[in-house]
Amino acid sequence: MNKHAADGRVFIFDTTLRDGEQSPGCSMTLKEKLRVASALDTLGVDIIEAGFPAASDGDSRAVAAIAGLGLKATICGLARCHFPDIDAVADALRDCDRRRLHVFIATSPLHREYKLKMSPDEVIQRAVAAIEHGRPAFQSIEFSAEDAGRTEKEFLLQVFQAALDAGARVLNVPDTVGYLTPAEIGKLFKYLHEGLRCREAFTLSCHCHDDLGLAVANSLSALEHGARQVECTVNGIGERAGNCSLEEVVMALNTRADRFGLNTAIDTRQLYPASRVVSSVTGNMVPPNKAIVGANAFAHESGIHQDGMLKHRQAYEIIDPTDVGISESQLVLGKHSGRHAFRQRLETLNIQPDDVGFEALFKAFKQLADQKKYVYDEDIEALWLGDNQDGPWRLWAINIETEAGVESRNPRHKASATVRLLHHGAAPRSFRGSGDGPVNAVFNALRQTVDENIELMDFVVKSISAGDDAQGQASIKASIGRNQYQSNSTSTDIVEASALALINVINRHLRNQETDCGQPQAQRA
Ligand code: KIV
Ligand code: ZN
Repeated sequence: MNKHAADGRVFIFDTTLRDGEQSPGCSMTLKEKLRVASALDTLGVDIIEAGFPAASDGDSRAVAAIAGLGLKATICGLARCHFPDIDAVADALRDCDRRRLHVFIATSPLHREYKLKMSPDEVIQRAVAAIEHGRPAFQSIEFSAEDAGRTEKEFLLQVFQAALDAGARVLNVPDTVGYLTPAEIGKLFKYLHEGLRCREAFTLSCHCHDDLGLAVANSLSALEHGARQVECTVNGIGERAGNCSLEEVVMALNTRADRFGLNTAIDTRQLYPASRVVSSVTGNMVPPNKAIVGANAFAHESGIHQDGMLKHRQAYEIIDPTDVGISESQLVLGKHSGRHAFRQRLETLNIQPDDVGFEALFKAFKQLADQKKYVYDEDIEALWLGDNQDGPWRLWAINIETEAGVESRNPRHKASATVRLLHHGAAPRSFRGSGDGPVNAVFNALRQTVDENIELMDFVVKSISAGDDAQGQASIKASIGRNQYQSNSTSTDIVEASALALINVINRHLRNQETDCGQPQAQRA
């Protein structure tokens, strides 16, 4: 009996730090992972998949550090069905009161034949042996049948029954390549739900990828047909097109409780803050039209819609933006605003620094207020999220000589730049570059800080608040060697914002090499 299916509680299993981190450019440092883990705990997720300890020492250290935070959530580590992988998870989660092992093996004919070169019976034996090996060290064991979406359903039932008999109590159905449709996954869950037998309670779980844009729809269909755990990531980040988006699936359940009759333990007012934290640490911008957390998700442009909204909000809005943590107040702060007003604003924005953090933030706010007349919510968020700019390089000064316009002697906009950087706080070093404009010149100067080639894949500058003195946000996606990185930075000066964003990318790369926190994709699940 799947006892959990009888009630309406859905467990939110967040895999932002594991499957999400596997997406190109989304690798995080240890400090960034700790920050995301804390945001997920404040959000109220039930399980945090903290990483894949056997993948690298960096992953193992990160899982152990998250386990040591003493969070409310269960902490989970991923392992292949190999004893050393399982022992690595046990080791990393040693200090954690609520720990879960997540073991997986591929079950589809294609994976069995070409990747594993194993018969169906061997796959079952390997899964059973892994679960039995892990049992003494964990409070719960989750078993995943990788590529379940393309596995014969009779074989899937057989593997899951064997996993249940061996002691797994969460059975996860990954649609690894995002192949299924909502009707198909619904039918599969109904089949498994009706076919599996166990004396004890167990939970069916869905894990959907978004290759056909169906991850959320598929997850909702699975939940309607017996799943009680949904695996998802903040902002839907993840391999290729990403994973099921946490905020979307939670708000669908919440907004359409009349249809689903299901609930989660998520504090929905923390959805927007969590989205901002993940976007900031991964440098992965949230598309403006993204449901729930995109900049346009609650914007009403057309006159007819604005008129309707003024007459009755629900005419064009099914979710109150404050329910997902988006502040409505238009109050702006300036250089005369004091500590009290600033603290109140932080509370409204769900920003909760400790005392030391508050003082640092207040100081940064005062500096910004000296540079620009009004400080908007977006500016305060940027200050709060921007403190992840760890070294080794730090910007000290930029000098630019430039010539532009129709009167210019050169047909193109020529510039040269001297960028002065501190390395681990030592005396500033100068790098010179020239280019087709100030930003290009600065980037060419910064390129000299690394031996490998830096290739810009995407570069966007936009204003994040209102007015002539608005802060510009520069977003960069770049590759250095075999790795991809993303980063955002803000400043009232767009050349400085661009330089800071590229310095972040360079620093991420250098830190990655020091700590091997970001591994080549081939070594990941
Ligand atoms: O997509 C997938 O198959 C996975 C498993 C490791 C659960 O992420
Ligand atoms: Zn996955």
